[in-house]
Amino acid sequence: MAKTRLQTAPRTAPETAPLDTYLKDRSRMVDKALDTFLPRASVKPGTLHKAMRYSLFAGGKRLRPILALAAAEACAGDFQNALPAACAVECIHTYSLVHDDLPCMDDDDLRRGRPTSHKVFGEGVAVLTGDALLTVAFEILAQARPTRLHPTASLIKELATASGSRWLIAGQVLDLEGEGQTLTRAQLQFIHQSKTAALLTTSLRLGAMSANAGPARLKNLTDFGQALGLAFQIIDDILDVTQTTEKLGKTAGKDEQSTKATYPALIGLERSRAEAHRLTEAALEALKPFGAKAVRLRQIAAYLLDREY
Ligand code: IPE
Ligand code: IPE
Ligand code: MG
Ligand code: MG
Ligand code: MG
Repeated sequence: MAKTRLQTAPRTAPETAPLDTYLKDRSRMVDKALDTFLPRASVKPGTLHKAMRYSLFAGGKRLRPILALAAAEACAGDFQNALPAACAVECIHTYSLVHDDLPCMDDDDLRRGRPTSHKVFGEGVAVLTGDALLTVAFEILAQARPTRLHPTASLIKELATASGSRWLIAGQVLDLEGEGQTLTRAQLQFIHQSKTAALLTTSLRLGAMSANAGPARLKNLTDFGQALGLAFQIIDDILDVTQTTEKLGKTAGKDEQSTKATYPALIGLERSRAEAHRLTEAALEALKPFGAKAVRLRQIAAYLLDREY
C-alpha cells in the first residue's frame, strides 16, 4: 500500500525562502505572541488597553523583534525561545514612539500610517499608554526561559539599561536639547547611538542570550548592532528628507521643520548615504564569525540600507 504523504505545512519559512517571505513570517509570529502577551482590549480600563493595541498593531516593520529572533538563529538556538525578548523590545520601541510623537516632544500627527495616539486618545492617555507599554515589556521579558549562561534577571537588566537614562532616554533628551543647535559630528553620533542603536543592539543581544550565546558571540552581535543601529537612524534621517508622508506613514520633512540635528542637516545627503553604507559594511564584517548561520542578519542589513520607509 502506498504510504500516505502527510501534508505538513512548514512551521516557519524555510531557510531558502526569500527575505520578504521570512520577514512576513516572523512578523506574523511576533504579532501572534504580542496578542497573547497583551491584555485584551476589553480588560478594564478599556481605553488604555485599546490604546496600547492601537499603537502596537498599527503595522510597524517589527525590525527589533525580528533581529532578536534572527540573532537567536545565528547562535544556533531555537528562535521560539526568543519570543518573549522579541515582544518585549517591540513594546519598548512602540512606547518610545508614542512618547516621541507627543506635542511636548516631536509633535507628530501621523505614525505607522495612522493618527498618533494622542490625536486619537488625548495626551493624558497617550502618556499613560507609553508608560503601560514600557511596563508590560518587563512583565513579558520576566517570562523568558533562563539559559545556562543567562538567568532571566540578566535579560531584564540588559533591557532596562538600554531603555534607561543612559541610553534610549539619554538620546531622546539630547535630541530635544539639540533642536536649533549646530552639534559636532561626535555629539550627533552619540544621540543616534543612544536613542536608536542601543535598543537595536540589545534586541540582538537578548535574542542571542535566549540561545545561551557566550561572550564572544555577544561581542560580535554588539559590534554588528552598534554599526547597524547608527546606519538605521542615519537612513531614518535621510528618508525624512527624501520620502513622501504616504510612503513613510509619518510626516515627511518634519526634522527640518523642527530644526532637528540630523545627519543630512549636518553633513548633507550624499555624505550621509556614504556613511550609512560604510557602517553597513562594518556591521557585516562583525558577522563573519557566524558563517552561514547569520544569513538572515546579513540580508536584513542589506535590506535596511535600501529601504524606502
Ligand atoms: C522609527 O523606527 C523610529 C526610529 C528609531 C528611527 P522604525 O522605522 O523601526 O519604526 P516602525 O517600528 O517600523 O514603525
Ligand atoms: C526616534 O527618532 C527615536 C526614538 C523613538 C527613540 P525620530 O524622532 O527620528 O523617529 P521618527 O522619525 O519620529 O520615527
Ligand atoms: Mg524624536
Ligand atoms: Mg520623531
Ligand atoms: Mg526620524
